[in-house]
Amino acid sequence: MVNQEWRDCPVLVTGGMGFIGSNLVRRLVSLRAKVTVIDLNLTEYGAHSHNLADIAPSVEIVAADIGDDTATAAAIGKAAVVFNLAGQTSHADSMTRPAADLALNQAANLRFLEQIRTLNPALRIVYTSTRQLYGRPRYLPVDEAHPIVPPDINGIHKFAAESYHLLYARVYGLRATALRLTNVYGPRMRIRDAKQTFLGIWVRHVVEDGCFELWGGDQLRDFTYVDDLVDALLATAASPATVGQVFNVGGCPPITLLALAEQLVAIAGSGRFERRAFPEERKKIDIGDFYSADGPFRAATGWQPNTSLSSGLAETLAFYRSNLAHYLSES
Ligand SMILES: NC(=O)c1ccc[n+]([C@@H]2O[C@H](COP(=O)([O-])OP(=O)(O)OC[C@H]3O[C@@H](n4cnc5c(N)ncnc54)[C@H](O)[C@@H]3O)[C@@H](O)[C@H]2O)c1
Repeated sequence: MVNQEWRDCPVLVTGGMGFIGSNLVRRLVSLRAKVTVIDLNLTEYGAHSHNLADIAPSVEIVAADIGDDTATAAAIGKAAVVFNLAGQTSHADSMTRPAADLALNQAANLRFLEQIRTLNPALRIVYTSTRQLYGRPRYLPVDEAHPIVPPDINGIHKFAAESYHLLYARVYGLRATALRLTNVYGPRMRIRDAKQTFLGIWVRHVVEDGCFELWGGDQLRDFTYVDDLVDALLATAASPATVGQVFNVGGCPPITLLALAEQLVAIAGSGRFERRAFPEERKKIDIGDFYSADGPFRAATGWQPNTSLSSGLAETLAFYRSNLAHYLSES
């Protein structure tokens, strides 16, 4: 689909009140798509009213669980494309509240797919899975053939949900693609605390000219700027060749967390950090070094990231310097 083809296209975005979803919704609205959002509004995670506040009149928002058959029926029935981003993203909370993670990340997706199979089996589906399901890498970069050894409950449930999507593609012919995302960052990520990503709380402290903690520092990670990820999501929907498949989506070349912290502070010109040993309870679910091989995705879609880490960090800092007060409050 080229940009003009999104015009008037009925698109459903689940998780659209959250970080990635709201950036996607904003792009789709700018392309004049007809956007419906289904979101449970979990403000204790990434949902935030400010994410869509200025464009709310251009979007239909359904406050519901994607597993709620009654609430989702109309939106599923009329959509041509669904970006299924709804999910609980805290790895730590999945360990302390495993049943809640099961309901939100696994059971809800099964019900959602059953609804699609029943009501609108021609719907194009793009599901956001996670690199977390690989666990601690056995080799780098990690490709799609790497063993799946989820290090936490969240990884197990995300893998189950991804598997449902691919099974429904194989068995029922649903037009689903799953993308295993790495660390995504940018405007509208949660920064009040470290629940969504450690980079969120780093950005908060730097903008407030405070001090953040760097746990370890030698770990290698790759990062995708959210605008590049939105490009990847749109490119996936537009690529019939990706139906029924799962792909890694990476981003910038890998960088140590120490180098990332130094770069963030240098770009901001404020804030500082202190290195600490990795906390024991986090060490058990930490995956060490990770970066993705995403050659198959780039070959299938022609996608590539366009934003360097330094410009992505600069854009992110500029956004939070102007919007900090909103994102320090819960909703
Ligand atoms: N942010 C990342 O770095 C990253 C990395 C890998 C995978 N992902 C995946 O991308 C997706 C979006 O992540 P995000 O960072 O934008 O998270 P987010 O928490 O900012 O947004 C997720 C949204 O989904 C909603 N939600 C959760 N469960 C729901 C349910 N059952 N029904 C309806 N709404 C529900 C929440 O209210 C929230 O608004 C998630 O599926 C996540 O697992 C994100």
